[in-house]
Amino acid sequence: MAMGGCRIALLFCCVSLAARVGTLAAFYAIPLKMFSGHFNSSAALDLSSLSKVEPTADGLSLASDSAGKVNFLDMVDNLEGDSGKGYYIEMFIGTPAQTLNILVDTGSSNFAVAAAPHPYVTHYFDRVLSSTYRSTDTRVAVKYIQGYWEGELGIDRVSIPKGPNGTVSVNIAAILSSDTFFFPGTNWQGILGLAYPVLAQPDSSVEPFFDSLVRQTGIPDVFSLQMCGAGISASESSDPAAGSLIIGGIEPTLYKGSVWYTPIKEEWYYQVEILKLEVGDQNLILDCKEYNRDKAIVDSGTTFLRLPENVFNAVVDGIIQTSLIQFSADFWTGTKLACWLKGQNPLRLFPKLSIYLRALNASQSFRITIFPQLYIQLISEIDDDFECFRFGISSSANGLVIGATVMEGFYVVFDRVRKRVGFAVSTCAESSGVALSEIAGPFAAADVSSNCLGDSVLYEPILWAVSYALMGVCALALLILLLLMAFPCHCRRGDRTGEITDESSLVRNRIK
Ligand SMILES: *[C@@H]1O[C@H](CO)[C@@H](O)[C@H](O)[C@H]1NC(C)=O
Ligand SMILES: *[C@@H]1O[C@H](CO)[C@@H](O)[C@H](O)[C@H]1NC(C)=O
Ligand SMILES: *[C@@H]1O[C@H](CO)[C@@H](O)[C@H](O)[C@H]1NC(C)=O
Repeated sequence: MAMGGCRIALLFCCVSLAARVGTLAAFYAIPLKMFSGHFNSSAALDLSSLSKVEPTADGLSLASDSAGKVNFLDMVDNLEGDSGKGYYIEMFIGTPAQTLNILVDTGSSNFAVAAAPHPYVTHYFDRVLSSTYRSTDTRVAVKYIQGYWEGELGIDRVSIPKGPNGTVSVNIAAILSSDTFFFPGTNWQGILGLAYPVLAQPDSSVEPFFDSLVRQTGIPDVFSLQMCGAGISASESSDPAAGSLIIGGIEPTLYKGSVWYTPIKEEWYYQVEILKLEVGDQNLILDCKEYNRDKAIVDSGTTFLRLPENVFNAVVDGIIQTSLIQFSADFWTGTKLACWLKGQNPLRLFPKLSIYLRALNASQSFRITIFPQLYIQLISEIDDDFECFRFGISSSANGLVIGATVMEGFYVVFDRVRKRVGFAVSTCAESSGVALSEIAGPFAAADVSSNCLGDSVLYEPILWAVSYALMGVCALALLILLLLMAFPCHCRRGDRTGEITDESSLVRNRIK
């Protein structure tokens, strides 16, 4: 009996821990959800990085350009695109400069550009034509759940015409082959990952673009984003919506009221802490750890507001109860559009959504609120009579993502110097003069736990280490099992609560 319990306990701890870490590893993601421009649920991708390639050479050449005075007004409206296709900025790459449009993505950390022809890119970066391009002979690959890109890691000189003055030497991943990464009609040919070095591939020694820019030009380690696609049909062929990436600071003409800051909890993604969600005036009353399960991040490269499954279900229930509109489940899961006769103005039936974020004073919070126009998104006009909408919120298995659905309501400041993300009401978040977003605070956070972070704030490298450690533990456990079969069991703890072995608690401590 005791012997059997012992074996089962060992096996159980082994299997459950391995499964837990395996799950985390599988869900590790650089989320990048693209809407291809035609409504197609399978085009709303969940791209998760899985790759591990050999370490890179870390040689970086230093540019000598010094920055002129930074004029933020010159950067206003330097973005094009929309929430569905992504927001992109024009960049000059190589010598002589080749002009490419680059997707702005705060949810990854590689600067990667098309470097070979692809049916979905109009043009690409031709390394042969750049006299300053240097290959590092390092392969770099990023795999996603659906699709991937791979290529060669190199270094070249880059400038941003509507950005700070100066040219910098940066790491470039030259994309030579890819699958389901470029989409028709998006009009960008590369991706600018603005998150922290931890997420860089093949490893964190590949200095991300923004780190290089700050180091070489001396601009402040801050950037801010205004994305202006709210209320504009995501399927329109032209790109009327725009936005601004202010590099090196904050441009006061892009927001109203004050900037509210929340701490960056961990510098990998821009991870923040969410305390509470409200649908209309109804608090969802979930344990606040549910909102941060896995992680909660701010990601301009994700189209939707993505919510952990049970949070998602609670939000959908809340919206259904408030709006009293009957939809098929397909609308909420994102596989169907909802169409109304023009002039019916269905949006007035939907509630607003509020996300409460931890304030800098940890015993306070502030809330960012989006109106239905931001999350019930106009997609197309089927004919002259109907308007069709999609649901801009989706369910997530890898954490909560404050994507474009929410970001379009705000001017978002990524203050890396002071390790905080700021939100202010965006000047472009309005429709016919009516505001589409609000910010309010401070609120006392006394009713909320002092720590809402999930248990699993993990970096991929740590995951790998933990996986290996667990393999070792499992091997050891197996050995012990074999020994137990050969010899009588002397369980130190005979009671049924003693199921965690010393080995497993060691691993558990290492996970945290
Ligand atoms: C949706 O997209 C997928 C992948 O791009 C494609 O295979 C499929 O045919 C598309 N479906 C429709 C209805 O367009
Ligand atoms: C770059 O320098 C020029 C000339 O000195 C100046 O007019 C311009 O405002 C600068 N641009 C930025 C973004 O600082
Ligand atoms: C932080 O918030 C608490 C609760 O609202 C308040 O009592 C305290 O004075 C604040 N601390 C600072 C430094 O503002």
